[in-house]
Amino acid sequence: TSSPPVYTLEEVTKHRSLDNGVWVTYKGDVYDITEFVAMHPGGDKILLAAGGALEPYWALYAVHKEEHVLEILSEYKIGVL
Ligand code: HEM
Repeated sequence: TSSPPVYTLEEVTKHRSLDNGVWVTYKGDVYDITEFVAMHPGGDKILLAAGGALEPYWALYAVHKEEHVLEILSEYKIGVL
């Protein structure tokens, strides 16, 4: 099996709008969640994390620390840091 693409933090930072794509990181993995933004039960708040880490926000909104949420996230993985 091939190893996943490696992205820099700088590259992740460039993806923080629906036009450029919305990327986030979580535990060292990189996700392109552009397609999920409109489906997010918490609405546009998700864009606060655009281009950066989910951890600080998910620490505040503990609703995300559930298996079904991590399962959704896993569908959008594009690589690692
Ligand atoms: C709710 C997914 C990022 C704020 C939810 C729920 C899911 C979800 C599945 C519903 C959970 C449930 O009711 O069991 C995600 C995913 C994210 C993400 C996959 C990232 C890729 C964020 C961020 C914020 C946020 C960054 C805040 C800055 C909220 C809030 C709710 C929520 C406030 C509660 C909505 C309500 O029940 O009224 N999210 N979320 N989410 N999310 Fe997110």
